[in-house]
Amino acid sequence: MKKLFFVYILLIGGANIYAQSPLLIPPTITSETINLTLQEGITTFYEGIETNTMGANGSLLGPTLILQKGSTVSITVDNQLPDTTTIHWHGMHVAPENDGGPHSIILPDELWTPSFEIMDQAGINWYHPHLHMKTGEHVSKGIAGLIIVKDDEEEALELPRTYGVDDFPIILQTKGFDTDGQIIFHTNLDTSVMVNGTVNPFIEFPAQVVRMRVLNGSSQRVIELGFSDDRTFQIIGTDGGLLESPVAAERYRIAPGQRADILVDLSTSLGDNIQLMSYASELPNAIYGATQPGMGAGMTGSLIGYTSNPLNGSDYEFLDITVGAATADPILTVPATLISHSPPVEGTEDITRALTFTQTVMGDLNGPFKINGSTFDMDVIDYTVPLNNTEIWTLTNQTPIAHPFHIHDIQFYILEINGSTPPVQLRGLNDVVLVPGGMGTVKFIAQFKDFANDTIPYMFHCHMLPHEDMGMMGQFIVSEGTSDITSVDNNSALSIYPNPSMNGQFKIDWTASDATPKSYQISTLDGKIISNSEITDKNITTLDIQLSVPGTYLITLVLEQGHITRKIVIF
Ligand code: C2O
Ligand code: CU
Ligand code: CU
Repeated sequence: MKKLFFVYILLIGGANIYAQSPLLIPPTITSETINLTLQEGITTFYEGIETNTMGANGSLLGPTLILQKGSTVSITVDNQLPDTTTIHWHGMHVAPENDGGPHSIILPDELWTPSFEIMDQAGINWYHPHLHMKTGEHVSKGIAGLIIVKDDEEEALELPRTYGVDDFPIILQTKGFDTDGQIIFHTNLDTSVMVNGTVNPFIEFPAQVVRMRVLNGSSQRVIELGFSDDRTFQIIGTDGGLLESPVAAERYRIAPGQRADILVDLSTSLGDNIQLMSYASELPNAIYGATQPGMGAGMTGSLIGYTSNPLNGSDYEFLDITVGAATADPILTVPATLISHSPPVEGTEDITRALTFTQTVMGDLNGPFKINGSTFDMDVIDYTVPLNNTEIWTLTNQTPIAHPFHIHDIQFYILEINGSTPPVQLRGLNDVVLVPGGMGTVKFIAQFKDFANDTIPYMFHCHMLPHEDMGMMGQFIVSEGTSDITSVDNNSALSIYPNPSMNGQFKIDWTASDATPKSYQISTLDGKIISNSEITDKNITTLDIQLSVPGTYLITLVLEQGHITRKIVIF
């Protein structure tokens, strides 16, 4: 029995000698009142083996949320797990307090009730836990669900959109199992391949244009998507929604966290049997999933467990598709154009921020990886972004492996990858970009609109979950401050000490000469203001603070140029 897990990984190519299962299609929630109960359960991925899993409203994965742009949803997340967690709406433009990042924890047996307007355009997003250092565990054990956003613009196009009939959720994942059939996380032994939680799945698609809402929900693996007969398919959308027009392709590379809206024309394929594959043998090196996960000068050692994983660098099957009869009212053509985009123009940016990825041990592939020299600290705000800023972020990857960089709050336009204009399929909106390994660079532009909050940050991080959990993450606040406060928004310019404090005394120092102080506030973590004190002397650069009750507080220094918030702790 225990050897089973190593047998399944030999299922490479289309020749299935093991039992297939019908592809699970997650149920949908279409109402504006959404209840998600996070729970533990048991899933039988492999016959006769009970695997402990986690899901939302079930044992594994979660329902697909179908949301209408412009509507307001009220969500209740009920945490029935024996562990604290959070739920993040990946890709959605929501206020920081609704975003479900690592600061919005839901204790066991507690409810979290965010409510927000759907402002996103039609597209594919997803939800998953985001507790710092536990994202990998909670996602690997099974919590993840698709979000399909609909809007009038998309509705006006002749596209397949009948869920489970000509419009299919396709959550691609690889997972690792131990010899007892239990899921392991933070592993490079992710040898099991599944779609929607179904191992070795099959499905019948109708002989017409079929839509696949693809998510790479894997912890680390990059997928080189294609069909076994190398047929051409059409990419119509990426993370942030539709492209300007469909892009014909035989392959599509999809990194962890990324989504792809894909049409495949099966109208002349009745009776065909084709497989949805990952052609990982075609992945260039220095990508997790390729033969070699790293490259370049200074690369040392290898990724532990990587070479023994037979998925790496080989072609393997995700889904077995048989083409059956068309539906009564099939879509038979692919629209020539979709929506229009008007990206902010380079040169209109208010600021350019440079982020560099490095690793602790030069050339090491195992991490921890760092952004701008440090690993994630819940108490450090890396950037303060003035509301309505247009920003260019440049990402430089000095590590030997590609990292899928993700940012909350916004969707960006990629300006350059390794100095060149990105391929057409990457010219829409995205919230994840694969930054090439070995000195690869990416440049993107985005606007930070609608939501500002001086206490709750948004995250940016690598979407390889072990990297994220080990601290390849940072956070930014969007502030309504009237102008940028870059001169004081880095750590060294503002210091609080001692922090934590044993006796409730803190000293706050800032060094920037152009920082004009107005007031400071002390508040509780949920935003209740305890005190608000005016600063009359505009020339001071230091404050002495005395608090008495032990606990964690937020201190906000209000400057004429904006706000800076930091967490302080009294033991
Ligand atoms: Cu999909 Cu910050 O995450
Ligand atoms: Cu996200
Ligand atoms: Cu990474």
